[in-house]
Amino acid sequence: MLPKINTLSGYLYEYQKSVANPEAFWENIAENFYWHKKWDKVLEWDRDGHNVQWFVNGKLNITENIFEKNLFILGDKPAIIWEPNNPDEPTVTLTYKQLHEKVCQFANVLLQNGVKKGDRVCIYLPMVPEAAIAMLACARVGAIHSVVFAGFSASSLADRINDAEVKVVLTSDGNFRGAKSIPVKAVVDEALESCPLVEKVIVLKRTSIEVTMKPGRDIWWHDAIRGVSIENKAQEMDSEDMLFILYTSGSTGKPKGVVHTTGGYMVYTAYSFANVFQYNINDIYFCTADVGWITGHSYIVYGPLLNGATAVMFEGVPNHPGVDRFWQIIEKHKVTHFYTAPTAIRSLMGYGTEPIERHNLSSLKVLGSVGEPINEEAWHWYHTHVGKGNCPIVDTWWQTETGGIMISPIAGVTPTKPAYATLPLPGVQVIIVDNEGNELKGNNVEGNLCIKFPWPSMIRTTYGDHERCVNTYFSSFKGLYFTGDGVKRDADGYYRILGRVDDVINVSGHRLGTAEVENAINSHPLVIESAVVGFPHEVKGQGIYAYVVLDAASKNHDPEKIKASLLAAATKVIGPIAKPDKIQLVTGLPKTRSGKIMRRILRKIAEGDATSLGDTSTLLDPGVVKEIIEGALVPV
Ligand code: PRX
Repeated sequence: MLPKINTLSGYLYEYQKSVANPEAFWENIAENFYWHKKWDKVLEWDRDGHNVQWFVNGKLNITENIFEKNLFILGDKPAIIWEPNNPDEPTVTLTYKQLHEKVCQFANVLLQNGVKKGDRVCIYLPMVPEAAIAMLACARVGAIHSVVFAGFSASSLADRINDAEVKVVLTSDGNFRGAKSIPVKAVVDEALESCPLVEKVIVLKRTSIEVTMKPGRDIWWHDAIRGVSIENKAQEMDSEDMLFILYTSGSTGKPKGVVHTTGGYMVYTAYSFANVFQYNINDIYFCTADVGWITGHSYIVYGPLLNGATAVMFEGVPNHPGVDRFWQIIEKHKVTHFYTAPTAIRSLMGYGTEPIERHNLSSLKVLGSVGEPINEEAWHWYHTHVGKGNCPIVDTWWQTETGGIMISPIAGVTPTKPAYATLPLPGVQVIIVDNEGNELKGNNVEGNLCIKFPWPSMIRTTYGDHERCVNTYFSSFKGLYFTGDGVKRDADGYYRILGRVDDVINVSGHRLGTAEVENAINSHPLVIESAVVGFPHEVKGQGIYAYVVLDAASKNHDPEKIKASLLAAATKVIGPIAKPDKIQLVTGLPKTRSGKIMRRILRKIAEGDATSLGDTSTLLDPGVVKEIIEGALVPV
């Protein structure tokens, strides 16, 4: 078991130790894992070029640290309890032993299909145990997985497949989500029309809808595993060999492939899981995220399984077949740890407490929140009605790029404060800077959230473009990792995340670049240009507000029909998560004389606050602002 902090003074002691000598601190944690060969040096770091290596020259396989290291003790313990979309379908439980066999078997399937160490495999699967099996099988053979959320469109999927030069795609025929059944394989087929490098597609049968199978390329999962050995020797990996790529949105350009490597990611996700959640071996942990996001990677698959945890994996949505679905799952599996997103809490709050009271939630010990700021009202509702006032809430702040939780209470140890992520975990050296990069010292300060020293699970590069990584994260403030978030440190030294300060919006915990949504809208033939901003949304946290300038030819079209086709364009290019909540058709956008769109003004108008727009005199055409304000839509 990994060392666990269990008192506040213990936390302070560990934190001090981790800052005084980070190498010694992390070396001590890394000693708890199984390495074929230990590292020569703990950390190698070139600050300016962002070349960082942890556990240099260490050799290992992460799946051996999940399975072989622990099988003797954990063999028959459930690793994954899978709860299907339809509650009438049976739950599937896989013990560590069974999961190990399935991972080894599928690793052999990958090898038989030509996958070698370092090859990229795209996983476009719903929330089924096979998604975890696929990820671990890739890790077993040293292939780099790139999981793409199965709600992304064919064109988003194709972009990600091509960027990573993927060789094999793992998918399903369809996907059950609530009352809907989604034709997943058809999306893959469309995407692959523009992905010449893909050689094989392995298709899991889930919904039994009819699909076309391309001879020579497509194979059924059940056929592929038939008769295949359940024994597999893990590939030896270097500590810095890539474990996975995960695409995420930034403020400019197309989503970038965030790269995580093997040794550091393993050490950090396992350590943070054990400590933040204070997981004990008989606990049942339920994280509602999708494996298509970083939360699913670090805290459904790797972190929990490295700790021998039992993780509930849920295929469906919180309101199907009833709005008590989460509560029903908690009662059914006697869940002790429940980790979800504020948007889910806010949407369930709308149904009152009756759906909760229908269920016995007395097994719960710890509640978690992730993905976006949790407002105080949602925090209190979660604490009082779900946790009955007895469960600490761990409001965990982190990012795809950080790999693991960075600022969070340690359950039952750190005194919590509603809407505050509280204090950094050991090893996380937070620094707040103003826009000029000056450190804001002391308490009661507010500014840009940066991290000044490497931690083991930090982003290594953006796939295929290291310069982009350096420019995006390490050049805003010299020598610092810039998170893109604003933060406040209050009088007690506690951190409250204030949201993004760049052009990234967070819609229901899904991260989107405004430029990406604009590109999707601009793909419509009648659109000249558009500007997208976020606005406060009661349930989603942020909603998408699009200001759109149409071509003169649009005069002959019904504006409502055009708006509907703009929504369809966003869905087609990115996926349903990118659909604007509000579209305002405008004749022009507020621009500076150099042609830059003044988003600050558009944000204010979208927020419904047109009174404090600041100086608009530098605009090319100040009249545009007046017109936009007059036509502004009421935010919901
Ligand atoms: O703005 C922060 C917000 O989500 C962003 C990272 O998004 P993503 O890479 O998709 O990862 C989400 C899951 C870790 C951050 O820059 N965010 C995440 N967690 C919190 C949060 N904002 C406030 N409080 C949080 N607990």
